[in-house]
Amino acid sequence: MDETQITNDRLLNLKAFDERKTGVKGLVDAGTSSIPSIFVRPVEDRLKDLCTCPKNISVPIIDLAKVATESSDQTKIVKEMVKASQNWGFFQVVNHGIPLELLENMIEGTRMFHEQDVEAKKEIYSRDFHSKKVAYVSNHDLYKSKAANWRDSLSLNTIHSAGVFDPEELPSICKDVILEYVKHILKLGDHILMLLSMGLGLKPQYLAELESSKGWSLTCHYYPACPQPQLTLGLRVDGHADISFITILLQDQIGGLQVLHENQWVNIEPIDGALIVNIGDALQIVSNNMLKSAYHRVIAKSVGPRISIPLFFTGFFSSKKVYGPIKELTSEENPPIYREFTIEELLTYFFSKSLDELGVDYFKLG
Ligand code: OGA
Ligand code: NI
Repeated sequence: MDETQITNDRLLNLKAFDERKTGVKGLVDAGTSSIPSIFVRPVEDRLKDLCTCPKNISVPIIDLAKVATESSDQTKIVKEMVKASQNWGFFQVVNHGIPLELLENMIEGTRMFHEQDVEAKKEIYSRDFHSKKVAYVSNHDLYKSKAANWRDSLSLNTIHSAGVFDPEELPSICKDVILEYVKHILKLGDHILMLLSMGLGLKPQYLAELESSKGWSLTCHYYPACPQPQLTLGLRVDGHADISFITILLQDQIGGLQVLHENQWVNIEPIDGALIVNIGDALQIVSNNMLKSAYHRVIAKSVGPRISIPLFFTGFFSSKKVYGPIKELTSEENPPIYREFTIEELLTYFFSKSLDELGVDYFKLG
């Protein structure tokens, strides 16, 4: 078989999978015991896999209850948050004030959406992220990535509407819980952006005034149990960075999310009631590399389903604002590393590439 033949076969298989509109869960429900070739990672990628870090290290945990008390505690927490964002690009927050029951209901609502009758999901299956606010899809970069991932997703995307959406557009099976969850996470996001602004030595409202939380998207991922987990991945072959300013993610107790730290993949262990926060490319750029957007991935597992729900704070697509390294954070000794950009340019770049490709380097000066 020559290379074009392989490519054509792959394309046909991708299309057939896409047109069924039943996602990875549809394969599992049909009793698939060996995973289709479109999900199989190239053997050379599998061979160069880095071992998961065996040492007992984990991403920092930040206790937000302390922020509310003494101002000296607040200063300490803000410093810890910035340090975690520099060294790891990731941290977990506990005592964030969002009721545990709501987090559990959100995971349950996501499960109910994905496990409902397929016809209801098929109706909203779409790859059109620009005109559809609510869409169900398997692998947003299906036709661009080297190997498809063992994952389906429901998303609510407000990047084009500056955070505004009509609740009636949401699937009725999980509408109420999404509304409640989003309300809390948006508030928490603004709080974290405030603490990060302070940690960077900026005025508390600085990052909020950049409209970093004005447009956002919520994604409800469902990773079914995988019959051959060693052949594929749940999310991204070599890891990926998020394009957002920040991302706040809720995961269930299955585990599988890993962050690349000092050249080793470190498990982000599920902690009951905690939320995971990570820095995205947009914040790495505007902070002129003071905060880092770390590579992360999700390994496929034979147990599942695993459910995870990231909310990406991306800014508003059509904003007229011009972004770039924040003046207060640059100097003669520490000149801007990145050029200026608009959110439209940032997001257009993101949607045009596969998650396999690099992010921030595209915006580097010189
Ligand atoms: C993402 C992501 C991690 C997870 O959607 O960008 O990194 O645990 N998800 O699903
Ligand atoms: Ni991510």
